[in-house]
Amino acid sequence: MNYLLRGVRSIEVDVNDPARAAAFFEKVWHLTPVSQHNGSYYFRGTGAYHHILAIHAAKDGTAVRRIVFDVADRDALAALHERVKPLCGDTQAPHEIDAPGGGTGFGFTDREGRNYAAICGVADHTDTANAADRPRKIAHVNINSADAEKTKAFLIDALGFKLIDASGPLSFFHCGNTDHNSMVLAAGTKPTLNHIAFEMPDLDSTMRGAGRMRDAGYPIEWGVGRHGAGNNVFAYFAGPEELPLEYTAEVMQVDDTYVPHGPDYWRFPPGRLDQWGVTPPHTPRWKRIQEMHHFAPGAFEI
Ligand SMILES: [Fe+2]
Repeated sequence: MNYLLRGVRSIEVDVNDPARAAAFFEKVWHLTPVSQHNGSYYFRGTGAYHHILAIHAAKDGTAVRRIVFDVADRDALAALHERVKPLCGDTQAPHEIDAPGGGTGFGFTDREGRNYAAICGVADHTDTANAADRPRKIAHVNINSADAEKTKAFLIDALGFKLIDASGPLSFFHCGNTDHNSMVLAAGTKPTLNHIAFEMPDLDSTMRGAGRMRDAGYPIEWGVGRHGAGNNVFAYFAGPEELPLEYTAEVMQVDDTYVPHGPDYWRFPPGRLDQWGVTPPHTPRWKRIQEMHHFAPGAFEI
């Protein structure tokens, strides 16, 4: 199957204290600084993407600036633009990107006001060896929706995702890579950020990362455990300015032969929230922060 998108390239966040957040993402979360530009901080993982996180100064409180998708080339970008334009709110024309990594792309919003961009031709890295305890890339972004059916239709019809599994209020979306999912949709709240998952190279890196977070004053808010759909291990935290963050690893690798399942298949036995049966319920703080961060209004122009 051909997909319009190759994956989630990066996420950009607006924070009140960019320098403090940048220090956290370098020293505790273990991303690598790659650039500073106009007061913004850019960080890479060990994977090829030029950067996987951008931190900007907030104009109006902590928010998600945009989710940036990776597209193969200009032809694919043009095809995507044709497809999303009639289905979006605001949409830019494809243009050269004046930001670290460069490339060609465009910004757009969905009908619930979330900001996205799609981009190709970025100056990516060639040194891509895994490193213990260091995230490789964004594994997935989980977004909340007030109108899950509308947002599901957007992800499928406009962006070309495939609905690959559904579990409880969650829908999992697969695109043009081998990861089980790259986007997750949580039904029933506001169009906010649920969480950002960073992929660690292995289980031990996830566990040591959880220990490092505890040492730094960021206790585990949910986990550790192993999810059903996607089969990935997880540990969730409240990062700087209560950004909802996840370390994950061992995401199921799939191809077009994968058979999707629904909520009945993925339901855990009573009292269990993960495959191992070890994780306690989410903390009240996690329940709060996984619905609190909105998308920066009107910030669709990349
Ligand atoms: Fe997740």
